[in-house]
Amino acid sequence: MAWDDIPDWASSVANSILMNVKQKDPFTFYHCCRVGRASRRLAQSMGLNEYEQSVLEFSGLFHDIGKVGIPDSILLKPARLEADEYRLMKAHPVMSAKTIEPLSNIPFFKAQLPGIRYHHEKVDGSGYPFNLEGDKIPLAARIIAVVDTVDAMMYTRPYREGLSFDVVKQELKDFSGTQFDKAIVNIYLDAVRFWNNIEAADKEEKAIKQILLKSA
Ligand SMILES: [Fe+2]
Repeated sequence: MAWDDIPDWASSVANSILMNVKQKDPFTFYHCCRVGRASRRLAQSMGLNEYEQSVLEFSGLFHDIGKVGIPDSILLKPARLEADEYRLMKAHPVMSAKTIEPLSNIPFFKAQLPGIRYHHEKVDGSGYPFNLEGDKIPLAARIIAVVDTVDAMMYTRPYREGLSFDVVKQELKDFSGTQFDKAIVNIYLDAVRFWNNIEAADKEEKAIKQILLKSA
């Protein structure tokens, strides 16, 4: 097996694990799907190769799967978490990585672990659970941190309204260099304009297909 082989069963494994997440918490499931997709896009915009893009996509898909180990009373709590609940919640990146570790004899899955394990670290060292700083945070984790936070801010939760994309972009700028890697934020803000066009084009294509089906 070459170092950059992607097993043909990799997607089946992802589907299987994510079905478990969906049964536990559909919101986390859809969040993981979106973050996987956005991680690949950002990796592509950063010039990473096809294999690295796939690693990023899978790391994004798996980044929150450890939340299945968090009690519903905390994970689904319709209010802000108490300090002891938050402490437990902060264990989820390590729990996500532990779920994938049994597959780490396969290089493709081993390569996903840094992005998963460190996705809540912040470049100023104030993240969790390891308080890593700057370049000590693996690149994959710095990439996921940006798209993960964007997604989390944009979607409405029981305890707060989702933010508009303009506000989210401003947050990224405000926390660039403290929470987020500056260079990655710059590339994201530059690239995302075209993603929105892709999103719109996707929708348009689907709508056209619907019309064509109806008129057939
Ligand atoms: Fe997370």
